[in-house]
Amino acid sequence: MVTSTATRRRQGESFRIHEDAPSTAETEMNEPSIRDDEERDDDDIDQDEAEQEEAEQEDADAQESEYSESSDDELIVDDNIQQDMERLQNSFPGFRYKYRLIKRIGEGTFSTVYKAEDLQYESYDNSWDIERWDDKWTPPPLKNLPGQDGQQAQRRRKAKYVAIKKIYVTSSPTRILNELELLHELRGFQNVCPLITAFRATDQVVAILPYFRHADFREYFRKMTVPDMAIYLRSLFSALASVHAANILHRDIKPTNFLYDPETRRGVLVDFGLAEREGTDWKPCVCHGRRRIRAPVAPTGGPAGYPKQDSRPSRRANRAGTRGFRAPEVLFKCTEQTYKIDIWSAGVILLTILSRRFPFFNSADDVEAMIEIATIFGQKRMKAAAQIHGCQFETTIPTIGTHGFTLERIILWSTCRSDSGEKLSAEEKKAVEFLEMCLQLDPEKRISADEALCTEFLQMGHETSSDGSNDAAEEDEMDLLKE
Ligand SMILES: Nc1ncnc2c1ncn2[C@@H]1O[C@H](COP(=O)(O)OP(=O)(O)O)[C@@H](O)[C@H]1O
Ligand SMILES: [Mg+2]
Ligand SMILES: [Zn+2]
Repeated sequence: MVTSTATRRRQGESFRIHEDAPSTAETEMNEPSIRDDEERDDDDIDQDEAEQEEAEQEDADAQESEYSESSDDELIVDDNIQQDMERLQNSFPGFRYKYRLIKRIGEGTFSTVYKAEDLQYESYDNSWDIERWDDKWTPPPLKNLPGQDGQQAQRRRKAKYVAIKKIYVTSSPTRILNELELLHELRGFQNVCPLITAFRATDQVVAILPYFRHADFREYFRKMTVPDMAIYLRSLFSALASVHAANILHRDIKPTNFLYDPETRRGVLVDFGLAEREGTDWKPCVCHGRRRIRAPVAPTGGPAGYPKQDSRPSRRANRAGTRGFRAPEVLFKCTEQTYKIDIWSAGVILLTILSRRFPFFNSADDVEAMIEIATIFGQKRMKAAAQIHGCQFETTIPTIGTHGFTLERIILWSTCRSDSGEKLSAEEKKAVEFLEMCLQLDPEKRISADEALCTEFLQMGHETSSDGSNDAAEEDEMDLLKE
């Protein structure tokens, strides 16, 4: 078992970004490395084995990236990635003593993320590392060579990986600080990826997170059985329950921000770049005074379209998020958005999985997004949903019917079962019942994460997941024994 020496504990320290200092100064980044790859003794059998294990790990990574991360584009720009990695390494004095950059694992809207080996893992407090106590690695007995005592073998440890999120320098400093502060606040929460530390060099900020092995959603979502869906969603809703209990809205729930490993069936929520505390910049919206004040009834039945000279005051609301995943209240510019916006987005993920179509919604802008939602839910429900926030919904688009469709019909249609008259299975029906609770147009009627965890559907995820993860852990152990 790996024990951390924790010589420089960070636990309990209040959050601060490690700032740059002139490279001559004795900064934390300038401390010599504990394990310097360039100066290792090649005769050391231990190191050789470690190297082999590393190579095996790299192979596994390469295979993994075949599924999840690489694309032809990435292969072409390989040199550029290498240059970027070197640039990153050079912007922080002593970086290479702390981390060994391995590859680029993600290119988000606001950052580039790299996988790296944490070279000084053992010098720090690793309470963030959920796997440190169940690290089942033991030296393979067959590889013990003469002259190598058990202690020496024990000294070797499994490489520890981190994800280094290089936030684009064009991001506003307030936004960066907001992301780091919220992540720091959420450390230790279930299914939320913790922040280990962060560094700044002039305008470049990097966040260091534990590396979480995951597969590309597009590679596994079509193969998911209903119990698989329940486990996936249970993990996502556990994360949401923690985040919402802390009064934080994630605002960007979507598959690329929920890293899931279908093998271990574990998932973590990442990317708090758009997250905010509930109530930030709230201005009164009629939806919140619903019980006290009656929402003004918008006139209906007039000519559809938009007024040429619109004298109404313009409405501004936070619309941060990703198209296709925005809740109706975001589209209706509600000025008092609640954590229920995340539940809608989680519902869209489930709809995607059940319908086997990704992306499910594929709009170019918010108006198109509204049309897509209206096509499913119908005019009647859309009008009511708009009124909740004091808006009016009018349309003459012929494909938007009065009553829309049931989610069951949508799923049967998108999985090509409408014509054959095939029905949903009993399990699928459970999933659709749950989906209906997540995709309520009215945020007040939409289920909360806590309530969701108690539903029969997510309970199914609970029961299966405890079995499932044990199986996976046992399999891991078997693999090690086979070595
Ligand atoms: N802790 C992590 N472990 C493994 N991969 C990660 C981790 N954090 C992020 N990634 C990868 O990087 C991608 C972008 O990260 P994210 O935090 O979502 O950045 P952005 O704000 O740019 O979208 C993710 O979709 C994921 O593939
Ligand atoms: Mg992201
Ligand atoms: Zn509102």
